[in-house]
Amino acid sequence: MTFTDKLSVLYSRDEIASKIKLLAQDIKRDYRDKNPILISILKGSFIFMADLVRELDFPLEVEFVRFSSYGKGKKSSGKIEVIQGVTFEVENRHVLIIDDIVDSGLTCKFLKDILIEKKAASVKVCALSSKPSQHTVPVDIDYSGLIVPDKFVVGYGLDFNQKFRNLPDICLLEENK
Ligand code: IMP
Ligand code: MG
Repeated sequence: MTFTDKLSVLYSRDEIASKIKLLAQDIKRDYRDKNPILISILKGSFIFMADLVRELDFPLEVEFVRFSSYGKGKKSSGKIEVIQGVTFEVENRHVLIIDDIVDSGLTCKFLKDILIEKKAASVKVCALSSKPSQHTVPVDIDYSGLIVPDKFVVGYGLDFNQKFRNLPDICLLEENK
C-alpha cells in the first residue's frame, strides 16, 4: 500500500488469522448453547468482529456500540464519549464484548459496568490485542489475543486519525518527522 508514513509489520495477517482461530475454539466451547450477544466496540473492532463471527458455528447475535476516547492523536483522553450506546436488550443474556485493543482498559470497563447494571446474565471480554503495560484499571480479558508493546499500532481496524484501518496487518507506526 502506498502510505507515506513509516510502517513495520508487528503481526501479519496470517498470525492474526491463526490467533482468531484459537480464540474461536475457546468461545465455541463456552458459548455453544448460550445464544450469546457479541457486542463489537466500533470503530476499531469492525474487522476483528467480522472475522471472528465467521469462525463461530453456533447461534449468536451481533450488536454494535460506538465509543470514542482518542479524538486526534496517540493518547487516550481518558474521557469516553458515547456515540452509540447500549440501545438493545441485554437482561438475562450472555454477552461477550469484542474489542480491538485493550490499552488503559477504561473503555472495556466502562462497557462492562453498563452491561452488568443492565442485568446481563454474564459479561465477558474478548480482545484481539492488549497492551498489558498500559492498563490503568484492572480488566479481566477472558479471551485474550496478541500482546502489543507500549507502541502505537495501526491496521486491521485500528487507526491513527482515522487512517490505516484498511491495512491487513497490525503495524507499528512511526510518523515522518
Ligand atoms: P482504552 O485505553 O483501553 O480505553 O482503549 C480505547 C481504544 O483506544 C481502543 O479500543 C482502541 O480503539 C484505541 N487504541 C488504543 N491503543 C491504540 C493503538 O495503539 N492504536 C490504535 N488505537 C488504539
Ligand atoms: Mg476500540
